[in-house]
Amino acid sequence: MNKKIDNKEAKTYFIRTYGCQANEHDSEKISWILENIGYVSTDNMEESDLIIYNTCLVRENAELKVYGQLGALKNLKRRKPDIMIAICGCMMEREEAREVILSKYDHVDIIFGTKNIHKLPQLINRYYQTGKTVIDIVEDDREIIEDIGANRKYSFKAYVDIMYGCNNFCTYCIVPYTRGREKSREPENIIDEVKDLASKGYKEITLLGQNVNSYGNTLDYNYTFAKLLREINKIDGIERIRFMTSHPKDLSDELITAMAELDKVCEHFHLPVQSGSNRILKAMNRKYTREDYINLVDKLKKAVPDIAITTDIIVGFPGETEEDFKETLDLVERVRYDSAFTFLYSIREGTYAANMKNQIPDDVKHERFQRLLDTLYPIFYENNIPYKDKVVDVLVEEVSKNDENVLSGRTRTGKLVHFQGSKDLIGKIVDVKIDEIKSFTLEGYKI
Ligand code: SAH
Ligand code: SF4
Ligand code: F3S
Repeated sequence: MNKKIDNKEAKTYFIRTYGCQANEHDSEKISWILENIGYVSTDNMEESDLIIYNTCLVRENAELKVYGQLGALKNLKRRKPDIMIAICGCMMEREEAREVILSKYDHVDIIFGTKNIHKLPQLINRYYQTGKTVIDIVEDDREIIEDIGANRKYSFKAYVDIMYGCNNFCTYCIVPYTRGREKSREPENIIDEVKDLASKGYKEITLLGQNVNSYGNTLDYNYTFAKLLREINKIDGIERIRFMTSHPKDLSDELITAMAELDKVCEHFHLPVQSGSNRILKAMNRKYTREDYINLVDKLKKAVPDIAITTDIIVGFPGETEEDFKETLDLVERVRYDSAFTFLYSIREGTYAANMKNQIPDDVKHERFQRLLDTLYPIFYENNIPYKDKVVDVLVEEVSKNDENVLSGRTRTGKLVHFQGSKDLIGKIVDVKIDEIKSFTLEGYKI
């Protein structure tokens, strides 16, 4: 947990994080590093001494948001020139983005990447000594740095990195260019980290990697993700184990069996499909067919009763025809997802698909996107019907944003539940009886 300001002399920092869990967890590490050199966290950006933006560029709108916010900081820096402004994260791994920052946003003082966050104290010093913009980006030959801790946002659930980078090069995706090649952490280091979290009272852990199913491939000995889950399942105190993200091409029977057998592994599988058309899946370089995918879902549903399946879908990949899109709708109807992240295809310069000739016009993308949502939402609702009048275990996470008497938490299947209760239940697992269901949430009362 962040230490809040308790000492007026100490320098303060403010971090804003864009993007996925990998970035959120990197920000927790940056916060730990800064607090080790005496900085304290603040929510008041304008009054802070150091502002850090941890950026994402997976889609164009993620990037535009960062530029918008950076533009707004120009005035602040003019009024308070002593505020140090640093940008890091995936955007900074791209030379094009760094050039934009250097030419249009010269109020930025420090630029660093995703593979060298441990160097931040040095970079801050260098800036103080020279007063000049510091840029530090490393090539992808780094060793995994094990001695960085993390100031985790919650005291009861935690992210744990199990691997870094990605080797898959899906043709639409920029991540392999910003996070480098895949590399697995040693299992002992992961297990020690989880044991330490358990001893501090953490109940839920989420194992992070761009493709957790290929965990172990870069180790010098045979070791698999399923084996890692079995080891973590033995750790006393941990009650729930989650993981993200899984690539269907590497989902093994060994993993499905482990999920079925291990009591702490939650009954939820996030399995990005991206498209239901074999032609498009091939063009995306996903290396599985719709039939392979449906077969995996069937196996998972059979092995783990009541499992929730969620996914990511891209609409409007170059060359996607009405027929291809209908295949996606058909797959969605067949799999019956519990939830899905849906995206309009966004051109990412430097990826293979960015240069494909047959880009889809925006109006067609939007029209298909709407039809996809119209298909998905009733399915989400239908999947929630069996929860009515059931009692579910909920790990209470926070006070609801809309009503301070209402708490929100999640079931093992990842469903968001709202119920009345007091703040001291946060971090506990409680029984909630569901009395109302919606497409995106369940409502109930504590029993
Ligand atoms: N490694 C994870 C996800 C990383 S990015 C995986 O393979 O599943 C998260 C999601 O963003 C992807 O699953 C994809 O659906 C979406 N995405 C990535 N690049 C995109 C692009 N160029 N346009 C639209 N969506 C994209
Ligand atoms: Fe991107 Fe594909 Fe790697 Fe996921 S698996 S990060 S979508 S390249
Ligand atoms: Fe994540 Fe965005 Fe980087 S999705 S890996 S923060 S490009």
